Amino acid sequence: MIDVAITALGKYLPEQRLTNKDLEKMVDTNDEWITTRTGIKERRIANKEDGEVTTYMATKAVEQLIAKRGLDPLEIDLIICGTITPDLRFPDTANAVAHNIGATNAFGFDVNAACSGFLFSLATGVAYIKSGMYKKVIVVGVDTMSSILNYEDRSTCIIFGDGAGATLLEANVEGNGIKDQVLRGDGSGIEFLHMKNGGALNPITKENIDSGDQYVFQDGRPVFKRAVQGMSRTVKQVLANNNLVSSELDWIVPHQANMRIINSVADQLDFPLEKVMQTIENYGNTTAATIPLCLNDYESKLKKGDKIILTAFGGGFTWGSIYLTWAYDGEL
Ligand code: UT7
Repeated sequence: MIDVAITALGKYLPEQRLTNKDLEKMVDTNDEWITTRTGIKERRIANKEDGEVTTYMATKAVEQLIAKRGLDPLEIDLIICGTITPDLRFPDTANAVAHNIGATNAFGFDVNAACSGFLFSLATGVAYIKSGMYKKVIVVGVDTMSSILNYEDRSTCIIFGDGAGATLLEANVEGNGIKDQVLRGDGSGIEFLHMKNGGALNPITKENIDSGDQYVFQDGRPVFKRAVQGMSRTVKQVLANNNLVSSELDWIVPHQANMRIINSVADQLDFPLEKVMQTIENYGNTTAATIPLCLNDYESKLKKGDKIILTAFGGGFTWGSIYLTWAYDGEL
């Protein structure tokens, strides 16, 4: 069986910052509430007027990865973008990224799995290489959440931010890489987290726009509960599948939705917070980008052979955990 590992990383974050103090001037909220309820201090916001949106951010993240790894774009076989905020309804973000970087031998597609978008895309990319079909696959998690938020809705606009993280997948001869996955979905979760307008059900009409349903809707409490349950249960399942106990892990990389969710998952697993990657304070919830952004920010601390579990929960509901061993030491 071919082992498939993450062999390079890249990221892009907009310069523009939206702090809790800024939000205090926009909606009825305050820094203390946001900090204690979510752990978020600021998020990055794409400068849409300058075209700094999903394709742009994904392209920049991939360009950084290519430069760090010294990769020829012509070697890339496939690009997969996890995103719920593509620039266009069609064609896909991944195709445009391939064009922008000159990956003319590649094809691409997007995966819509909300906050689990990176995990589902990663699992897909790994399967293509394991099958022997392709050699170099780039998996991106990218979202411009600010393009689908209502900045008059304090229950959602304080949570999300924009960004992109990219990973390169290749076969690994040392036995490191993605070892196992438990991925799940439950469509009964639609009512708690969704965006109604703009699809086939509610196309863009004047009436639909007037209804205001073109923004993210979230009923936070049930999502919170299911997120803790879904992430901790699938981490436990992956540990059991691989005859591991949590103390043997070097890192857990959780989706960054809420610091209290992250703390509760760590608590359920009896796992020390120092080994839980966290970027939520600075970036908020960047949806599909949270996990690859964490990997980027912690890259210098990672060592070959480190045992890592990635875990996420999001709209759908979609959720799951992936167990991997890291393939290289420190920053490339
Ligand atoms: O990433 C995809 C998956 N998403 C998640 O995992 C998110 C899961 N949910 C959450 O993170 C949390 O539920 C939220 C951060 C969204 C909300 O936190 P909460 O502790 O669940 O608050 P709540 O919605 O139960 O609201 C508590 C109170 C309410 O006031 P009353 O009814 O108690 O008077 C809200 O109106 O806090 C109020 N509130 C706010 N107050 C100040 C809600 N949003 C705000 C706000 N500032 N921004």
